[in-house]
Amino acid sequence: MPTAHRTPTIGVTRRLPFETDADLTIGPIFEDDRPAELRSLHEATAGEVERAWQRGEFTGKLFDVLVTPLGTTGQRLILIGAGLRKDLTADRIRRMAIIGGLAARTRKVPKVAFAGWDRLAAAMSPQTSAGSATATELVAQAVAEGAVLANFEGGNYKTDDTLRPMVEAIELCPFDDTASVRDAVARGRVLGEATNIARELSNEPGNSLTPRVFADRAVAIARAAGLGVEVLDESRIDALKMGLLLGVARGSHEPPRFVVLRHEPANAVPGVTLGLVGKGITFDTGGISIKPADNMDKMKDDMSVGAAVIAAMSAISRLGAPVRCIGLVPMTENMPGGRAVKPGDVLTSAEGKTVEILNTDAEGRLILGDALWYARQLGATHLVDIATLTGACVVALGKTTSGLFGAPDRWVDEVKQASDRAGDRSWAMPVYDDYREQLRSEIADFTNTGGRAGGAITAALFLKEFAGDLPWVHIDIAGTAWAEEAKPYQPKGPTGTAVRTLVQLALAAADWSTLPLER
Ligand code: BES
Ligand code: MN
Ligand code: ZN
Repeated sequence: MPTAHRTPTIGVTRRLPFETDADLTIGPIFEDDRPAELRSLHEATAGEVERAWQRGEFTGKLFDVLVTPLGTTGQRLILIGAGLRKDLTADRIRRMAIIGGLAARTRKVPKVAFAGWDRLAAAMSPQTSAGSATATELVAQAVAEGAVLANFEGGNYKTDDTLRPMVEAIELCPFDDTASVRDAVARGRVLGEATNIARELSNEPGNSLTPRVFADRAVAIARAAGLGVEVLDESRIDALKMGLLLGVARGSHEPPRFVVLRHEPANAVPGVTLGLVGKGITFDTGGISIKPADNMDKMKDDMSVGAAVIAAMSAISRLGAPVRCIGLVPMTENMPGGRAVKPGDVLTSAEGKTVEILNTDAEGRLILGDALWYARQLGATHLVDIATLTGACVVALGKTTSGLFGAPDRWVDEVKQASDRAGDRSWAMPVYDDYREQLRSEIADFTNTGGRAGGAITAALFLKEFAGDLPWVHIDIAGTAWAEEAKPYQPKGPTGTAVRTLVQLALAAADWSTLPLER
């Protein structure tokens, strides 16, 4: 399959953009800056930025773009509006860098200098800095992340040459070339690359990314990142009695797979294993409760978070996160074949709980139920599962914010903070036991759907049945996995959401591993 992304080289240098071999310089400018007072910029553009400002053509408003000649040697400058100084966050810087990278690709420029970004550090408010990272490191990381994220192309099956070329090399200049800045750049590069890996997999059509191919891709990604990896085939899944996963897989000719990834660093915080579980439905037709034809094609992305877990695990390994992690991805199609599970059928989970299937389109929670149980079997102490789970979550929170569900609240808070650091939007939703009665079954322990009211919440309560007593968070990314509208910083297509949340969570293990998180 044609590759959809490229990770540029990223250098850090004290030199000025003129002194590098970049053809294009990308710089930020605040709305409350005065271009005439930014001496070197004013001189290098022969006053052009100031004139554009006076005309009102470009005044540094957030995400505005100005292209102008720079110096006299044919270089060009792209200025990106940074908005008001007081509103600056790492998230804004990441998005500004994405806009810069995309603009460079539009202009078909392979070598780019990011200049003047170090200046932003002074405007970063303290609460936006996480852990021990300095403002300068946060800026360097956000720029690197954004520059890599811009190098993704969802049209990779096109055979004409209309696609924008990728940026090949980036210099951050002038920038303090210290070990901590270089580490921050490396972190940004790994986070951006992992996000792009997930986006590429998410964008793959269902016919090319079957469960078997998905598992093979997971193995290749895991090996390259130094992770332990194991693939359970249909007979192992059968031996483990994963009746929910097998029930969903029955409707397809493609056999299911179950991928287990392991990160076991020598410096792991003691007594903790983070279990990351991602839904890996490579295509969701709905099964016998088949979906309408309109937009069914989008259901090729129903494995987005399976991909996110795999990509996040690769970054967790590359960055040496100080915590033992296991990544679990159950993989299957949801098809309406002749042996498919039917409404009214009862399935028995690996844990022994019985489920009455009311709607075969509520398949994600089924495969995750068995996977959450297996994560506990493998020794997970803290659980996070993610899924493109419910249309109800899209109704509740729209297309920008993922739903967070779980217990205890402090564990939900930890995931929320990781999501904020990552630049993924998320918001906590209630999981009161009162909703549990909506899952009551006449024949089995519970049903797999709870009706229309609070559909995202009853789905979460279903999953909670399989989380045991462990601290557990469920993230519903049904609305956020795929962008249907292009934004300046987010082209249409797969977003790679949740990848960086998971990595940030693992990187912060020293902070949460000692919290009392009894439920
Ligand atoms: N994969 C879908 C959820 C989904 C819907 C993701 C829209 C992205 C966009 C999931 O498997 C599903 O079909 N959920 C059903 C559950 C219902 C039958 C209880 C839904 O939300 O309609
Ligand atoms: Mn479904
Ligand atoms: Zn689904």
